[in-house]
Amino acid sequence: MPVKLPFVLARRFVAAESLEGTLPVLRQLCAEGLYVTVDRLGEYVHDRQQALATRDAYLGLIDVLANERDAGRLRDANVSLKLSSLGQKIDEAFCLDNLHQLLEAARPRDVFIRLDMEGSDLTESTLRIFEQVYPDYPDHVGPVLQAYLKRTARDIARMCELKARVRLCKGAYKEPPEIAYQDMPTIRARFIEYMQRLLLEGRYPGIATHDDVLIEATKRFAAEHQIGSDRFEFQMLYGIRPETQRELVRQGYRMRVYVPYGTEWLPYFYRRLRERKENVWFVVKNLFRR
Ligand code: FDA
Repeated sequence: MPVKLPFVLARRFVAAESLEGTLPVLRQLCAEGLYVTVDRLGEYVHDRQQALATRDAYLGLIDVLANERDAGRLRDANVSLKLSSLGQKIDEAFCLDNLHQLLEAARPRDVFIRLDMEGSDLTESTLRIFEQVYPDYPDHVGPVLQAYLKRTARDIARMCELKARVRLCKGAYKEPPEIAYQDMPTIRARFIEYMQRLLLEGRYPGIATHDDVLIEATKRFAAEHQIGSDRFEFQMLYGIRPETQRELVRQGYRMRVYVPYGTEWLPYFYRRLRERKENVWFVVKNLFRR
């Protein structure tokens, strides 16, 4: 039987194990001027019933977030979703149908669904599914592109052509050198190139990074090209650089915090630890915090 690690380990990066426990966190972030996108943790689902349960949980989440926004407790309603949790690995058509049902619920409530990007085994399929739903829901769905993937130059061009709303990030999975840049200077250079193109030719991009080099490059480029702070947003993960998140809000930028919740937090938690050795220290200190 697999060992269940205690949630206290993950609480720096994960709001709560339940949606109910997450709501006070969301309200507090919004009261401080931040936007949120809410992720119900789960990925690589291989069982149809589990994928349908995920779909139903997201239907509930869409409803709750729209109600919270309508009651003035959130600035807008955004969710982040991994298609592999909707059955992408079981059958693409089944996953597409599940996503379609979510978008049918999201559109009338004006909830935006961000399709997180996972490992490279799913990139092509995720973008294919995105392109199938996008014409019917152009204001309510958008993909994530990863600067470390060599294919991304092409995908950026395509998303600019479609005027799709893209989140740009570095990429969090371990990928081989044949398909992904491995060194930070190259990944940063690609990120800056794509950020500039999205700001000039895309639609309301999300610039998702905690990296000061990339944040400063974005601010500078936007100022030089008279791109107002209402035409893009910065995005960061819950629990990472919270002071910087608030500082950017004070400077007049939009900042969206990615807030994960749920019991399936282990893979997400490992990715955060792998990214930065300092994160391991935060977790250890957290264990002793009262
Ligand atoms: P990185 O961790 O590489 O750090 C670079 C520099 O930033 C550091 O050297 C330091 O200077 C500074 N820094 C970072 N953390 C700091 C801290 N705590 N304190 C002080 N300085 C710090 N990935 C993916 O593959 N698919 C996806 O869908 C998403 N979605 C996503 C959404 C959002 C909102 C974010 C922010 C990120 C993602 N990611 C993602 C993850 C992303 O790909 C990437 O793995 C992480 O953001 C880490 O890269 P960074 O650019 O943030 O900085």
